[in-house]
Amino acid sequence: MLTHGLHYASAVFEGERAYGGTVFKLREHTQRLFDSARILDFEIPYTLQEIDDATQATLAKNGLVDGYLRPIAWRGSEMMGVSAQHNKINVAIAAWEWPSYFSPAERLKGIRLDWAKYRRPDPRTAPSLAKASGLYMICTISKHEAERRGYADALMLDWEGNVAEATGANVFFVKDGVIHTPLADRFLNGITRQTVIGLAKARGIEVVERRILPEELSTFSECWLCGTAAEVTPVSEIGEYRFTPGKISEMLMNDYTAATVPAAEKLAVNA
Ligand SMILES: Cc1ncc(COP(=O)(O)O)c(C=O)c1O
Repeated sequence: MLTHGLHYASAVFEGERAYGGTVFKLREHTQRLFDSARILDFEIPYTLQEIDDATQATLAKNGLVDGYLRPIAWRGSEMMGVSAQHNKINVAIAAWEWPSYFSPAERLKGIRLDWAKYRRPDPRTAPSLAKASGLYMICTISKHEAERRGYADALMLDWEGNVAEATGANVFFVKDGVIHTPLADRFLNGITRQTVIGLAKARGIEVVERRILPEELSTFSECWLCGTAAEVTPVSEIGEYRFTPGKISEMLMNDYTAATVPAAEKLAVNA
C-alpha cells in the first residue's frame, strides 16, 4: 500500500491491442512507455526488446489471440516522501479479452459525446505528452459525469478553449471532403491517430492538423474518435452539434480494421 505510484501517481502505462496473436504497433507503444517514463524522470530498468518480448509472452501465456494489453511502470515503496530518488521502478504487464466496443453496423450509428467538465492541462502545468496515470484523474471525472447524463464519453477542450480530445481517444472531423484534427502538441498524439492520418493520406484525402474552436463544429459533417481501445468510432453528437457518419468515417473504419490484421494472415488471404 505504500507504493509511491499509488500515492503520487508516479506511474506511466500503455494500452495495446493484439489482433490474431500479434500486438499492433508494439514497438511504438513500448517506445512511448519509455518516453513517458523519462518525462516523469525515471528509467525503465529493461530494454525495449525485453518489454516487447514480455508483452508478446503475456498474451500467449494468457491464451489470448485477440486481446488488450496493459504494461505499467511505477515507482515502488522504498521512499514515501514526494522525492523518490531511491525508489525502485516496477514493471508489470496485464492482458485480458476486450472485444471491439461495437459491431461495424452499430458503430456507424455514431456515439454521443458531452462536453467535459475539465480541460486538458497546459504543458506548463502538467507533462501533457506523457501517457501518465495522473493525467487520467480529470478523464475519469469527466467521463463519469457524461455517463450519468446518458452520453458515451466527453470531449475535452485544451486550456485555451480549443477542441482537444476525448477522455481516452483522439478526435477527427470532415468538412467538404477534407479531414481536420486538432494539432497534437498539447495532448497525447495517439498511435491510432498517426495510423489513421497515414491511411487517409494513402487514400489521397487531405488531412489538416490545426487549432479547432468548438463553434466550428457546426461546419463539420462527419466526426470520429480513434484510439487503441476505441479503434475508429464514428460520433453522431457532441453537445449541441450533430454529425452524420458517412463515407470517410466508414472507409477509415474499414481501412483501420484491414491494417490491424497481422501480416501473416494478409499473406494467407492473398495466397
Ligand atoms: C487521453 C488519450 N488520448 C488519446 C489516446 C489514443 O492513443 P492511442 O491511439 O495511442 O491508443 C488515448 C489512448 O491511449 C488516451 O488515453
